[in-house]
Amino acid sequence: GIPNFVKIVEVGPRDGLQNEKNLVSTAVKVELIQRLVSSGLSVVEATSFVSPKWVPQLADAKDVMAAVCKLDGARFPVLTPNLKGFEAAVAAGAKEVAVFASASESFSKSNINCSIEESLVRYRAVTRAAKELSIPVRGGSEMNEFELNFDRYVSCVVGCPVEGAIPPSKVAYVAKELYDMGCFEISLGDTIGVGTPGTVVPMLEAVMAVVPVEKLAVHFHDTYGQSLPNILISLQMGISTLDSSIAGLGGCPYAKGASGNVATEDVVYMLNGLGVKTNVDLAKLMLAGDFISKHLSRPSGSKTATALNRV
Ligand code: HMG
Ligand code: MG
Repeated sequence: GIPNFVKIVEVGPRDGLQNEKNLVSTAVKVELIQRLVSSGLSVVEATSFVSPKWVPQLADAKDVMAAVCKLDGARFPVLTPNLKGFEAAVAAGAKEVAVFASASESFSKSNINCSIEESLVRYRAVTRAAKELSIPVRGGSEMNEFELNFDRYVSCVVGCPVEGAIPPSKVAYVAKELYDMGCFEISLGDTIGVGTPGTVVPMLEAVMAVVPVEKLAVHFHDTYGQSLPNILISLQMGISTLDSSIAGLGGCPYAKGASGNVATEDVVYMLNGLGVKTNVDLAKLMLAGDFISKHLSRPSGSKTATALNRV
């Protein structure tokens, strides 16, 4: 059956904005995060401590974090590709860091400029540093207040823009490596949004054979309109953590053609319809979506927001 409660990890301020050409001000990012938290979201991915040459939009990571780490009521994980990013994140007040590996060699190279194995070596170093500092990472063990949490991504879990189909065994291998390092949560990302329930189910079966389902999250992009069916099938397989992005913002700069992440409003609308508890207030969530869509001068990528704004 479908879980009674689903945790939503809002990735809009990070995954959603990272690809925006025009720089969004720090104040707007912080207000967006505040609005997302006040809609009831308990985890909001705030920014990335990556090279500003690679992702100029998130060059203000330190300032965003300084404002956000004072907010109560939510966790604010940030992406860290290496020890340098990890140290900067911790210095800025982060209590949760997310590493990001890929199941595709080509995507690993274009996204973080190293092979999958090299990335795992870096992430082991980040995990060790996190354990020493006692901060948790989004990916494995129990979280504790003064632990530096560490967790999180496997990208290109069904397909890669260069390599095409990715074998489920490869995804399971990378997910298991992250789990063994101590990631308390592992999010499986269909970065380019090519998956359908036909390819997502065998991928999840392979991963669930090596990582407990309660440690897994799914992260879908809506390129082919498959996010909601993929989410529904994942819920039916026991997944209870979903990533989504306000107003459907997003698209990875190193994944050509990838469109937005599944919209948080659409996910909440579906979960409400299924009677699944999320603690998220859809009306307040829509205000956060309107806020950022106006700032980007673009209609919302959420069908739910578009429909409800009409009635
Ligand atoms: P590199 O060029 O190989 O790094 O990039 P390097 O170690 O040779 O260093 C080059 C320069 O970057 C040096 O500065 C370093 O100090 C600096 P310089 O001497 O030239 O002035 N540097 C850094 N600066 C700030 N923060 C850091 C950092 N590290 C090095 N952490 C690197 C390697 C990993 C840094 C680069 O490739 C990078 O930053 N990549 C991040 C790309 C990214 O953020 N992609 C999007 C996120 S992943 C994604 O979207 C998928 C996901 O959402 C899941 C899904 O959607 O499915 C997670
Ligand atoms: Mg994404």
